[in-house]
Amino acid sequence: MALPAKAKIVEVGPRDGLQNEAAVVPATVKIELVDRLSAAGLPVVEAGSFVSPKWVPQMADSAEVFAGISRQARTSYPALVPNMKGLEAALAVGVEEIAVFVSASEGFSQKNIACSRAESLERLAPVAARAIAQGIKVRGYVSCIAGCPYDGNVPVAAVVEMSNALIGMGCYELSLGDTIGVGTADQMRGIVRGVAGSVPKDRIAMHFHDTYGQGVANVLASLEEGISVFDSSVAGLGGCPYAVGASGNVATEDVLYLLHGLGIETGVDLDAVAEIGGWISERLNRPNAARAGRAILAKREA
Ligand code: HMG
Ligand code: MG
Repeated sequence: MALPAKAKIVEVGPRDGLQNEAAVVPATVKIELVDRLSAAGLPVVEAGSFVSPKWVPQMADSAEVFAGISRQARTSYPALVPNMKGLEAALAVGVEEIAVFVSASEGFSQKNIACSRAESLERLAPVAARAIAQGIKVRGYVSCIAGCPYDGNVPVAAVVEMSNALIGMGCYELSLGDTIGVGTADQMRGIVRGVAGSVPKDRIAMHFHDTYGQGVANVLASLEEGISVFDSSVAGLGGCPYAVGASGNVATEDVLYLLHGLGIETGVDLDAVAEIGGWISERLNRPNAARAGRAILAKREA
């Protein structure tokens, strides 16, 4: 299949990335991170989550972050919400897009949100309905598409079932997440084909973690399957607090390097993102996991 001329990057570093950082990151740093990412041309920057602070203390200051960012008209700033309480907190700070999330596997659902997959759908249906009624866009995540840290193998049929349920709730886009980064290219092709049996490909995004170094390869396989929306995180920040051993999301810099090398337009300034990746890695006192980012910064210094 011909590759798309354009691709959309959904930057999830400030949420999926920072939710897993051991260091406490002050809201001022989160705000600067979000604003710099938007200035670099990222069309979507997931800026925080309204989840229980007992579960994910790193996101406890998301209201402060949303109140502090300089919102640009060309950028969307979704917030992750797990329930009605989260939606209310998001609405209170003027969030215009939310992301709801379910797991393709039972084990991860229980560990991440303390309920079964079926219960999560029941809990989220009224959340999505209320958001949509108020003009809020709703994005839907399905996690553990390629494997679960608790249940092991995850059948494609389970991914398809949860995807259809989220689309049925009115999600405008689905993000299919290999939360623990175990999947390889052919597996991703199978998942894309499975979900695309009932969901148009332009409503499917792929969300890769780089635990086994497969992120960029999986992006390419998905592009070849007709997907053109990818979640990634600057400097490869992150992991998942309830997915032991999962490393960060595939790095935004690495995905941009691939896309631009293929002549695919993103509207994002790779050099600027590399700079941000270097800055946030220093602020967090962690290695910069973006290979392209490190190379660009090293070349600049030399
Ligand atoms: P629970 O303990 O069953 O919830 O957790 P509860 O309703 O019994 O409430 C417990 C306490 O939390 C109460 O406080 C609630 O008020 C409070 P208390 O009375 O004990 O003082 N609470 C909240 N506080 C703030 N905001 C809220 C909220 N809801 C309840 N929205 C719950 C259930 C869903 C709340 C919890 O399990 C939770 O917050 N889980 C979120 C975990 C999370 O954020 N995980 C990471 C994101 S998912 C992910 O990373 C995957 C993804 O990135 C895709 C991929 O990578 O593949 C999306
Ligand atoms: Mg993730």
